Amino acid sequence: MSGGPILFFDSGVGGLSVVAPTRALLPHAPIVYAADSAGFPYGVKSEAEIAARVPALLGRLVERYRPRLVVIACNTASTIALPVVRAALDVPVVGTVPAIKPAAEASRSRVIGVLGTEATVRQAYVDDLAARFAADCIVLRHGSAELVRLAEAKLAGRATDPGRYRAVLSGLFDQPDGKRIDVIVNACTHFPLVAAELAAAAPPGMHFVDGGPGIARRIAFLTQGQDWPVGTPHHRAVFTRLDDAERALAPALAGYGIVQMEAL
Ligand code: DGL
Repeated sequence: MSGGPILFFDSGVGGLSVVAPTRALLPHAPIVYAADSAGFPYGVKSEAEIAARVPALLGRLVERYRPRLVVIACNTASTIALPVVRAALDVPVVGTVPAIKPAAEASRSRVIGVLGTEATVRQAYVDDLAARFAADCIVLRHGSAELVRLAEAKLAGRATDPGRYRAVLSGLFDQPDGKRIDVIVNACTHFPLVAAELAAAAPPGMHFVDGGPGIARRIAFLTQGQDWPVGTPHHRAVFTRLDDAERALAPALAGYGIVQMEAL
C-alpha cells in the first residue's frame, strides 16, 4: 500500500474542500475521490445507518484502490463512525472534526456558530469539543440539509438563490445571542464550497473557519518521507451511483484535477 493513492471519502462533493488544501501541500499525491452518491445525503440519516454503511463501503474501497491513507472528508461520517472505521481498516485513517478550537482562538465576542448537518450538530462529540476548547464561549449550532444541497447544485453548474444562504444563516443569527456571533465553523465539508455565497449572506467581517487546512497538514505529516509517483499524478473519482446527476459534476471535478469518473 506504500505506493498507493490517498483515498478521500464523503457522501458527495464536500470532500473536495479537503482535497484542495491537500493538493496544495502534496502536489504529487495521486487521489481517489470516493463519493457515496447512492447514500447521499448523510446529514438526515440516523447514527445507526451511518455507522453501518460507512465502514462497509470503506472496506470495499480500500480493497479496490489499496490507498496508503484514508481521509474521511465528511464531518457527519467522522463524528459518528471514525472509531469503527479505524478498527475495521488496516490503513491509517484521518477524520474530519468540527474546527471549534481555531474558532474559539479567533473569536473576540466569545460567541461562536457551528454550522453542520443535523446529524453532526447533535453529536456528543461536538459538546465535548465545545467543553474542551471553547469553555468560555457560547457555542450555538444549526444543522442544515439545504446548504449541502446548495453546494452540490453549485458544483453541478446550477445557479443558487442568494436568499437561501441568508435563510440558512438566520438559523444561527436568530437564536438568543446569535447576533453576537463573530466566527462560524463550517462543520460540514460541503460548506467551504459555498464560502463566497455564505460570506455575501453574512454580516460584513464575519469570520468562517473549517477543518480542511488542518487535515491537509495532518495528511502531509503522516506521509512525510514517503515517495510519490514522478510526474503529474492521476486522480480519479468513484461514485456508488454514477448517473446523469453525478456526470454533471465532471467540470467541477476537473477543476480539482480529477478527470476520470467511475462507478464502485
Ligand atoms: N459533507 C458531509 C459532512 O461533512 C455531509 C453532507 C451530507 O451528506 O449530508 O458532514
